[in-house]
Amino acid sequence: MTAGQCVHAGGWAASPVYQAFCRSELADPYQVLDALRSAEPVHWSPVLDAWLVTSYQEVTAGLRDPGLRSDRVSINARAVPGTLRPKYASLLSHVSNWLGFTDPPKHTQMREVARKVVNPAVAAKSRPMIEASAQEIVAGLHLRDNFDLVEELALRLPLTVVCRLLGVPDENVTDFHQWATEVGAFAGQVDPTWDASAQSVIEQANEGWLKLEALFGRLVAQKRHDPGDDILSELVRAFDAGAISEDELIGLCVFILAAGHTTTRDLLGNGLYLLLARPGEADKLLGQPANVVSAIEEVLRFESPIPMASRLAGDTVTLGGKTLGPGSTVILHLGAANRDPDRFPGAETFDVLRKQNRQIAFGFGAHFCLGAPLAREQAAAVLEAMLPDLPRLQLKSQVPAWSTGNMSLRALTRLDVSWST
Ligand code: HEM
Repeated sequence: MTAGQCVHAGGWAASPVYQAFCRSELADPYQVLDALRSAEPVHWSPVLDAWLVTSYQEVTAGLRDPGLRSDRVSINARAVPGTLRPKYASLLSHVSNWLGFTDPPKHTQMREVARKVVNPAVAAKSRPMIEASAQEIVAGLHLRDNFDLVEELALRLPLTVVCRLLGVPDENVTDFHQWATEVGAFAGQVDPTWDASAQSVIEQANEGWLKLEALFGRLVAQKRHDPGDDILSELVRAFDAGAISEDELIGLCVFILAAGHTTTRDLLGNGLYLLLARPGEADKLLGQPANVVSAIEEVLRFESPIPMASRLAGDTVTLGGKTLGPGSTVILHLGAANRDPDRFPGAETFDVLRKQNRQIAFGFGAHFCLGAPLAREQAAAVLEAMLPDLPRLQLKSQVPAWSTGNMSLRALTRLDVSWST
Protein backbone atom coordinates (compact mmCIF):
# COMPACT_ATOMS: atom_id res chain seq x y z
CA MET A 1 0.00 0.00 0.00
CA THR A 2 1.20 3.50 -0.78
CA ALA A 3 1.02 5.96 2.08
CA GLY A 4 -1.99 8.19 1.63
CA GLN A 5 -4.24 5.67 -0.17
CA CYS A 6 -7.23 3.95 1.44
CA VAL A 7 -7.69 0.27 0.64
CA HIS A 8 -10.85 -0.58 2.52
CA ALA A 9 -13.33 1.20 0.24
CA GLY A 10 -16.28 1.02 2.61
CA GLY A 11 -15.82 -2.52 3.91
CA TRP A 12 -14.34 -1.50 7.25
CA ALA A 13 -17.60 -1.45 9.24
CA ALA A 14 -17.89 -5.22 9.12
CA SER A 15 -14.17 -5.86 9.38
CA PRO A 16 -12.37 -2.73 10.48
CA VAL A 17 -8.77 -2.37 9.45
CA TYR A 18 -7.03 0.66 10.85
CA GLN A 19 -4.61 2.02 8.30
CA ALA A 20 -3.83 5.40 9.76
CA PHE A 21 -1.66 6.49 6.88
CA CYS A 22 -4.69 6.89 4.67
CA ARG A 23 -5.30 10.60 4.29
CA SER A 24 -9.10 10.48 4.44
CA GLU A 25 -8.88 8.39 7.61
CA LEU A 26 -6.53 10.91 9.20
CA ALA A 27 -8.74 13.85 8.29
CA ASP A 28 -11.78 12.13 9.81
CA PRO A 29 -10.50 9.36 12.08
CA TYR A 30 -13.43 8.87 14.44
CA GLN A 31 -15.72 6.67 12.32
CA VAL A 32 -13.09 4.00 11.93
CA LEU A 33 -11.96 4.33 15.55
CA ASP A 34 -15.58 3.99 16.78
CA ALA A 35 -16.07 0.87 14.68
CA LEU A 36 -12.84 -0.60 16.00
CA ARG A 37 -13.70 0.19 19.61
CA SER A 38 -17.05 -1.58 19.25
CA ALA A 39 -15.64 -4.58 17.41
CA GLU A 40 -12.27 -5.09 19.07
CA PRO A 41 -10.92 -2.44 21.48
CA VAL A 42 -7.49 -4.06 21.44
CA HIS A 43 -6.91 -4.69 17.76
CA TRP A 44 -3.91 -6.01 15.84
CA SER A 45 -3.31 -3.78 12.82
CA PRO A 46 -1.11 -5.46 10.21
CA VAL A 47 -0.78 -2.15 8.38
CA LEU A 48 0.61 -0.44 11.46
CA ASP A 49 2.40 -3.61 12.59
CA ALA A 50 1.08 -2.66 16.02
CA TRP A 51 -1.68 -3.20 18.53
CA LEU A 52 -4.17 -0.37 18.43
CA VAL A 53 -6.10 0.27 21.67
CA THR A 54 -9.24 2.39 21.44
CA SER A 55 -11.46 2.04 24.55
CA TYR A 56 -11.08 4.32 27.58
CA GLN A 57 -10.79 1.35 29.91
CA GLU A 58 -8.03 -0.40 27.98
CA VAL A 59 -6.12 2.80 27.10
CA THR A 60 -5.94 3.83 30.77
CA ALA A 61 -5.03 0.25 31.73
CA GLY A 62 -2.22 0.38 29.14
CA LEU A 63 -0.95 3.74 30.40
CA ARG A 64 -0.83 2.26 33.92
CA ASP A 65 0.91 -0.98 32.93
CA PRO A 66 4.67 -0.90 33.69
CA GLY A 67 5.11 -3.77 31.22
CA LEU A 68 4.43 -1.28 28.42
CA ARG A 69 7.69 0.62 28.10
CA SER A 70 8.23 4.22 27.07
CA ASP A 71 11.85 3.71 26.03
CA ARG A 72 10.68 3.22 22.47
CA VAL A 73 12.77 5.10 19.95
CA SER A 74 13.12 1.72 18.20
CA ILE A 75 9.46 2.09 17.16
CA ASN A 76 10.18 5.40 15.43
CA ALA A 77 13.23 3.94 13.75
CA ARG A 78 11.87 0.52 12.88
CA ALA A 79 11.54 1.28 9.18
CA VAL A 80 15.06 2.68 8.82
CA PRO A 81 17.30 0.21 6.91
CA GLY A 82 20.22 -1.14 8.94
CA THR A 83 22.74 0.43 6.57
CA LEU A 84 21.40 3.92 7.40
CA ARG A 85 21.30 3.49 11.18
CA PRO A 86 24.83 4.79 11.82
CA LYS A 87 23.94 8.01 9.98
CA TYR A 88 21.07 8.67 12.40
CA ALA A 89 22.68 7.27 15.56
CA SER A 90 23.08 10.68 17.19
CA LEU A 91 19.41 11.59 16.51
CA LEU A 92 18.18 8.25 17.90
CA SER A 93 20.33 8.60 20.98
CA HIS A 94 19.06 12.18 21.48
CA VAL A 95 15.36 11.19 21.29
CA SER A 96 16.01 8.43 23.83
CA ASN A 97 16.84 11.31 26.21
CA TRP A 98 13.41 12.91 25.78
CA LEU A 99 11.62 12.55 29.11
CA GLY A 100 8.57 10.94 27.49
CA PHE A 101 10.84 8.26 26.01
CA THR A 102 12.36 7.10 29.28
CA ASP A 103 11.54 4.48 31.91
CA PRO A 104 12.55 4.22 35.57
CA PRO A 105 15.04 4.72 37.06
CA LYS A 106 16.12 7.27 34.42
CA HIS A 107 12.57 8.60 34.05
CA THR A 108 12.19 9.08 37.81
CA GLN A 109 15.42 11.09 38.04
CA MET A 110 14.77 13.23 34.98
CA ARG A 111 11.11 13.87 35.87
CA GLU A 112 12.19 15.08 39.31
CA VAL A 113 14.39 17.70 37.62
CA ALA A 114 11.72 18.57 35.01
CA ARG A 115 9.05 19.02 37.71
CA LYS A 116 11.13 21.78 39.27
CA VAL A 117 10.93 23.84 36.09
CA VAL A 118 7.53 22.92 34.62
CA ASN A 119 4.83 22.80 37.29
CA PRO A 120 1.57 24.46 38.42
CA ALA A 121 3.42 27.23 40.30
CA VAL A 122 5.38 28.20 37.17
CA ALA A 123 2.12 28.28 35.22
CA ALA A 124 0.45 30.51 37.82
CA LYS A 125 3.47 32.83 37.98
CA SER A 126 3.47 33.07 34.18
CA ARG A 127 -0.19 34.11 34.02
CA PRO A 128 0.45 37.88 33.67
CA MET A 129 3.02 37.29 30.93
CA ILE A 130 0.68 34.85 29.12
CA GLU A 131 -2.31 37.20 29.37
CA ALA A 132 -0.31 40.21 28.21
CA SER A 133 1.11 38.25 25.24
CA ALA A 134 -2.36 36.98 24.28
CA GLN A 135 -3.84 40.49 24.46
CA GLU A 136 -1.01 41.93 22.39
CA ILE A 137 -1.33 39.25 19.69
CA VAL A 138 -5.12 39.65 19.55
CA ALA A 139 -4.79 43.46 19.32
CA GLY A 140 -2.57 42.94 16.26
CA LEU A 141 -5.27 40.82 14.62
CA HIS A 142 -7.61 43.82 14.67
CA LEU A 143 -5.30 45.56 12.23
CA ARG A 144 -5.68 42.76 9.67
CA ASP A 145 -8.59 41.88 7.34
CA ASN A 146 -7.87 38.22 6.60
CA PHE A 147 -5.54 35.98 8.54
CA ASP A 148 -4.72 32.44 9.53
CA LEU A 149 -5.58 31.98 13.21
CA VAL A 150 -3.28 28.97 13.52
CA GLU A 151 -0.20 30.85 12.37
CA GLU A 152 -1.01 34.26 13.83
CA LEU A 153 -2.37 33.27 17.24
CA ALA A 154 -2.46 29.55 18.04
CA LEU A 155 1.23 29.10 17.20
CA ARG A 156 2.57 32.51 18.17
CA LEU A 157 1.39 32.51 21.76
CA PRO A 158 2.76 29.12 22.95
CA LEU A 159 5.98 29.61 20.98
CA THR A 160 6.51 32.99 22.64
CA VAL A 161 5.63 31.57 26.07
CA VAL A 162 7.81 28.47 25.95
CA CYS A 163 10.80 30.38 24.55
CA ARG A 164 10.51 33.06 27.25
CA LEU A 165 10.27 30.42 29.97
CA LEU A 166 13.21 28.51 28.55
CA GLY A 167 15.29 31.67 28.20
CA VAL A 168 15.71 31.45 24.42
CA PRO A 169 16.57 34.79 22.76
CA ASP A 170 13.89 36.23 20.46
CA GLU A 171 16.13 35.99 17.41
CA ASN A 172 16.24 32.18 17.72
CA VAL A 173 12.52 31.59 18.15
CA THR A 174 11.57 30.94 14.51
CA ASP A 175 14.48 28.56 13.96
CA PHE A 176 13.66 26.76 17.17
CA HIS A 177 10.10 26.20 16.06
CA GLN A 178 11.16 24.79 12.71
CA TRP A 179 13.86 22.48 14.06
CA ALA A 180 11.80 21.24 17.02
CA THR A 181 8.89 20.53 14.66
CA GLU A 182 11.19 18.49 12.41
CA VAL A 183 12.52 16.40 15.29
CA GLY A 184 8.97 16.14 16.71
CA ALA A 185 7.66 14.71 13.42
CA PHE A 186 10.18 11.89 13.72
CA ALA A 187 9.38 11.33 17.41
CA GLY A 188 5.70 10.93 16.48
CA GLN A 189 6.43 8.62 13.56
CA VAL A 190 5.08 5.07 13.90
CA ASP A 191 4.85 4.15 10.21
CA PRO A 192 6.57 0.78 9.71
CA THR A 193 7.15 1.31 5.98
CA TRP A 194 10.32 2.77 4.52
CA ASP A 195 9.50 5.05 1.62
CA ALA A 196 10.40 8.52 0.36
CA SER A 197 8.16 10.17 2.92
CA ALA A 198 9.62 8.24 5.90
CA GLN A 199 13.12 8.98 4.61
CA SER A 200 12.38 12.67 4.33
CA VAL A 201 10.95 12.78 7.89
CA ILE A 202 14.09 11.29 9.42
CA GLU A 203 16.42 13.26 7.19
CA GLN A 204 14.84 16.57 8.19
CA ALA A 205 14.70 15.50 11.83
CA ASN A 206 18.40 14.74 11.69
CA GLU A 207 19.22 18.14 10.22
CA GLY A 208 16.95 19.87 12.74
CA TRP A 209 18.53 17.97 15.61
CA LEU A 210 22.10 18.87 14.60
CA LYS A 211 21.14 22.56 14.47
CA LEU A 212 19.35 22.37 17.83
CA GLU A 213 22.33 20.60 19.37
CA ALA A 214 24.68 23.35 18.24
CA LEU A 215 22.41 26.18 19.35
CA PHE A 216 21.48 24.67 22.72
CA GLY A 217 25.17 23.93 23.26
CA ARG A 218 25.92 27.65 22.85
CA LEU A 219 22.98 28.69 25.04
CA VAL A 220 23.99 26.30 27.82
CA ALA A 221 27.50 27.80 27.83
CA GLN A 222 25.98 31.30 27.99
CA LYS A 223 23.62 30.43 30.85
CA ARG A 224 26.45 28.89 32.83
CA HIS A 225 28.38 32.13 32.48
CA ASP A 226 25.39 34.42 32.94
CA PRO A 227 22.43 32.56 34.54
CA GLY A 228 18.93 34.00 34.52
CA ASP A 229 15.52 33.25 35.96
CA ASP A 230 14.69 30.69 33.29
CA ILE A 231 14.36 26.95 32.69
CA LEU A 232 17.66 26.63 30.84
CA SER A 233 19.61 28.17 33.72
CA GLU A 234 17.84 25.85 36.18
CA LEU A 235 18.66 22.81 34.06
CA VAL A 236 22.31 23.89 33.84
CA ARG A 237 22.32 24.07 37.67
CA ALA A 238 20.83 20.55 37.83
CA PHE A 239 23.58 19.32 35.52
CA ASP A 240 26.29 21.07 37.56
CA ALA A 241 24.84 19.45 40.70
CA GLY A 242 25.12 16.02 39.03
CA ALA A 243 21.35 15.40 38.87
CA ILE A 244 21.36 14.88 35.06
CA SER A 245 23.95 14.14 32.37
CA GLU A 246 24.79 16.55 29.56
CA ASP A 247 22.78 14.48 27.05
CA GLU A 248 19.81 14.48 29.43
CA LEU A 249 20.13 18.26 29.83
CA ILE A 250 19.88 18.78 26.07
CA GLY A 251 17.16 16.11 25.87
CA LEU A 252 15.07 18.00 28.44
CA CYS A 253 15.61 21.33 26.66
CA VAL A 254 14.51 20.04 23.25
CA PHE A 255 11.63 18.00 24.69
CA ILE A 256 10.24 20.93 26.68
CA LEU A 257 10.57 23.14 23.61
CA ALA A 258 8.87 20.62 21.29
CA ALA A 259 6.24 19.29 23.76
CA GLY A 260 5.61 22.79 25.01
CA HIS A 261 4.44 24.58 21.90
CA THR A 262 3.06 22.50 19.01
CA THR A 263 0.70 20.68 21.39
CA THR A 264 -0.66 23.95 22.74
CA ARG A 265 -0.88 25.40 19.22
CA ASP A 266 -3.20 22.50 18.39
CA LEU A 267 -5.31 22.92 21.53
CA LEU A 268 -5.77 26.62 20.67
CA GLY A 269 -6.34 26.05 16.94
CA ASN A 270 -8.75 23.15 17.45
CA GLY A 271 -10.63 25.08 20.14
CA LEU A 272 -11.00 28.26 18.07
CA TYR A 273 -12.21 26.21 15.11
CA LEU A 274 -14.78 24.30 17.21
CA LEU A 275 -16.17 27.51 18.69
CA LEU A 276 -16.25 29.36 15.36
CA ALA A 277 -18.03 26.43 13.72
CA ARG A 278 -20.52 26.20 16.62
CA PRO A 279 -21.46 29.76 17.62
CA GLY A 280 -24.16 28.42 19.99
CA GLU A 281 -21.44 26.81 22.14
CA ALA A 282 -19.29 29.99 22.05
CA ASP A 283 -22.30 32.01 23.27
CA LYS A 284 -22.35 29.96 26.48
CA LEU A 285 -18.88 31.21 27.41
CA LEU A 286 -19.03 35.00 27.27
CA GLY A 287 -18.86 36.38 30.85
CA GLN A 288 -18.96 32.81 32.26
CA PRO A 289 -15.46 31.92 33.53
CA ALA A 290 -16.61 28.54 34.91
CA ASN A 291 -17.91 27.60 31.47
CA VAL A 292 -14.60 28.62 29.89
CA VAL A 293 -12.81 26.15 32.18
CA SER A 294 -15.15 23.35 31.18
CA ALA A 295 -14.95 24.33 27.47
CA ILE A 296 -11.16 23.88 27.52
CA GLU A 297 -11.56 20.34 28.89
CA GLU A 298 -14.15 19.63 26.21
CA VAL A 299 -11.84 20.82 23.41
CA LEU A 300 -9.11 18.57 24.83
CA ARG A 301 -11.51 15.64 24.89
CA PHE A 302 -13.21 16.22 21.55
CA GLU A 303 -10.11 16.91 19.44
CA SER A 304 -7.18 15.65 21.54
CA PRO A 305 -4.04 17.38 20.20
CA ILE A 306 -1.81 14.36 20.91
CA PRO A 307 -4.16 11.58 19.91
CA MET A 308 -1.88 8.69 20.74
CA ALA A 309 0.80 7.49 23.12
CA SER A 310 2.94 4.65 21.79
CA ARG A 311 4.55 2.00 23.93
CA LEU A 312 6.75 -1.08 23.53
CA ALA A 313 5.74 -4.31 25.27
CA GLY A 314 8.77 -5.20 27.39
CA ASP A 315 7.44 -8.61 28.28
CA THR A 316 4.22 -10.44 27.48
CA VAL A 317 1.36 -8.13 28.46
CA THR A 318 -2.35 -8.96 28.68
CA LEU A 319 -4.69 -6.15 27.70
CA GLY A 320 -8.42 -6.45 27.03
CA GLY A 321 -8.12 -10.23 26.93
CA LYS A 322 -5.44 -10.12 24.21
CA THR A 323 -1.87 -11.32 24.64
CA LEU A 324 0.66 -8.76 23.44
CA GLY A 325 3.99 -10.42 22.77
CA PRO A 326 7.34 -9.03 23.95
CA GLY A 327 8.66 -6.33 21.64
CA SER A 328 5.30 -5.51 20.10
CA THR A 329 4.36 -1.94 19.35
CA VAL A 330 1.26 -0.71 21.17
CA ILE A 331 -0.62 2.44 20.21
CA LEU A 332 -2.78 3.71 23.05
CA HIS A 333 -5.24 5.95 21.24
CA LEU A 334 -6.01 8.84 23.60
CA GLY A 335 -8.27 10.47 21.00
CA ALA A 336 -10.37 7.31 20.62
CA ALA A 337 -10.53 6.79 24.42
CA ASN A 338 -11.77 10.37 24.78
CA ARG A 339 -14.61 9.57 22.35
CA ASP A 340 -15.63 6.36 24.14
CA PRO A 341 -19.41 6.54 24.71
CA ASP A 342 -19.15 4.14 27.68
CA ARG A 343 -17.13 6.81 29.47
CA PHE A 344 -18.57 9.98 27.89
CA PRO A 345 -22.28 9.71 27.10
CA GLY A 346 -23.01 11.49 23.82
CA ALA A 347 -19.27 11.40 23.12
CA GLU A 348 -19.68 12.54 19.52
CA THR A 349 -21.30 15.82 20.60
CA PHE A 350 -19.13 18.84 21.41
CA ASP A 351 -20.68 20.16 24.63
CA VAL A 352 -18.84 22.96 26.43
CA LEU A 353 -20.95 22.37 29.56
CA ARG A 354 -20.22 18.63 29.73
CA LYS A 355 -20.12 17.36 33.31
CA GLN A 356 -17.56 14.86 34.67
CA ASN A 357 -15.21 15.38 31.79
CA ARG A 358 -12.12 13.50 32.99
CA GLN A 359 -10.50 13.34 29.59
CA ILE A 360 -7.01 11.90 29.13
CA ALA A 361 -5.60 14.24 26.47
CA PHE A 362 -2.62 14.93 28.78
CA GLY A 363 -2.03 11.22 29.26
CA PHE A 364 -2.36 9.40 32.53
CA GLY A 365 -0.11 7.82 35.15
CA ALA A 366 3.66 8.06 35.38
CA HIS A 367 4.08 10.15 32.21
CA PHE A 368 1.17 12.52 32.85
CA CYS A 369 1.92 15.81 31.11
CA LEU A 370 3.87 18.27 33.27
CA GLY A 371 2.81 21.18 31.07
CA ALA A 372 -0.96 20.72 31.49
CA PRO A 373 -1.40 23.77 33.78
CA LEU A 374 0.64 25.90 31.37
CA ALA A 375 -1.45 24.78 28.39
CA ARG A 376 -4.70 25.45 30.27
CA GLU A 377 -3.48 28.95 31.27
CA GLN A 378 -2.80 29.75 27.62
CA ALA A 379 -6.17 28.44 26.47
CA ALA A 380 -7.92 30.53 29.15
CA ALA A 381 -5.96 33.64 28.13
CA VAL A 382 -6.80 33.17 24.44
CA LEU A 383 -10.48 32.63 25.13
CA GLU A 384 -10.61 35.65 27.41
CA ALA A 385 -8.99 37.81 24.73
CA MET A 386 -10.92 36.36 21.78
CA LEU A 387 -14.43 35.60 23.03
CA PRO A 388 -15.82 39.12 22.54
CA ASP A 389 -14.53 39.03 18.95
CA LEU A 390 -15.68 35.56 17.93
CA PRO A 391 -19.16 36.62 16.70
CA ARG A 392 -17.45 39.00 14.21
CA LEU A 393 -14.99 36.43 12.89
CA GLN A 394 -15.97 34.37 9.87
CA LEU A 395 -14.47 31.07 8.80
CA LYS A 396 -13.35 31.30 5.17
CA SER A 397 -14.09 27.61 4.67
CA GLN A 398 -16.48 25.28 6.44
CA VAL A 399 -14.14 22.36 5.69
CA PRO A 400 -11.41 22.22 8.33
CA ALA A 401 -7.84 21.78 7.06
CA TRP A 402 -6.85 18.86 9.28
CA SER A 403 -3.25 17.81 8.99
CA THR A 404 -3.00 14.42 7.29
CA GLY A 405 0.74 14.03 7.46
CA ASN A 406 1.20 12.42 10.87
CA MET A 407 -1.15 10.25 12.91
CA SER A 408 0.34 11.39 16.21
CA LEU A 409 -1.06 14.92 15.79
CA ARG A 410 -4.61 16.20 15.63
CA ALA A 411 -3.83 19.58 14.20
CA LEU A 412 -5.20 22.14 11.80
CA THR A 413 -2.69 23.20 9.18
CA ARG A 414 -4.46 26.58 8.95
CA LEU A 415 -7.62 28.33 10.05
CA ASP A 416 -8.38 31.18 7.65
CA VAL A 417 -10.77 33.81 8.93
CA SER A 418 -11.85 37.36 8.17
CA TRP A 419 -13.71 40.04 10.11
CA SER A 420 -17.32 40.38 9.11
CA THR A 421 -18.37 43.90 8.15
C1 HEM B 1 -2.50 21.06 24.97
C2 HEM B 1 -1.21 20.94 25.18
C3 HEM B 1 -0.56 19.64 25.56
C4 HEM B 1 -0.96 18.35 25.35
C5 HEM B 1 -2.23 17.86 24.67
C6 HEM B 1 0.05 17.49 25.91
C7 HEM B 1 -0.01 16.11 25.90
C8 HEM B 1 0.88 15.30 26.56
C9 HEM B 1 0.76 13.86 26.66
C10 HEM B 1 -0.34 13.04 26.02
C11 HEM B 1 1.81 13.41 27.37
C12 HEM B 1 2.09 11.95 27.79
C13 HEM B 1 2.71 11.16 26.67
C14 HEM B 1 2.86 9.70 27.02
O1 HEM B 1 2.31 9.19 28.01
O2 HEM B 1 3.58 9.03 26.25
C15 HEM B 1 2.62 14.55 27.71
C16 HEM B 1 3.79 14.51 28.41
C17 HEM B 1 4.56 15.61 28.67
N1 HEM B 1 4.29 16.91 28.37
FE1 HEM B 1 2.62 17.60 27.50
N2 HEM B 1 1.04 18.27 26.44
C18 HEM B 1 0.70 19.59 26.25
C19 HEM B 1 1.43 20.69 26.63
C20 HEM B 1 2.64 20.66 27.25
C21 HEM B 1 3.43 21.81 27.62
C22 HEM B 1 2.98 23.27 27.43
C23 HEM B 1 4.58 21.35 28.18
C24 HEM B 1 5.78 22.08 28.73
C25 HEM B 1 6.06 23.34 28.59
C26 HEM B 1 4.51 19.89 28.18
C27 HEM B 1 5.46 19.05 28.69
C28 HEM B 1 5.32 17.69 28.82
C29 HEM B 1 6.31 16.85 29.45
C30 HEM B 1 7.63 17.34 30.08
C31 HEM B 1 5.84 15.54 29.36
C32 HEM B 1 6.57 14.28 29.77
C33 HEM B 1 6.17 13.76 31.11
C34 HEM B 1 6.85 12.45 31.37
O3 HEM B 1 7.16 11.69 30.46
O4 HEM B 1 7.08 12.19 32.56
N3 HEM B 1 3.32 19.52 27.61
N4 HEM B 1 2.03 15.69 27.22
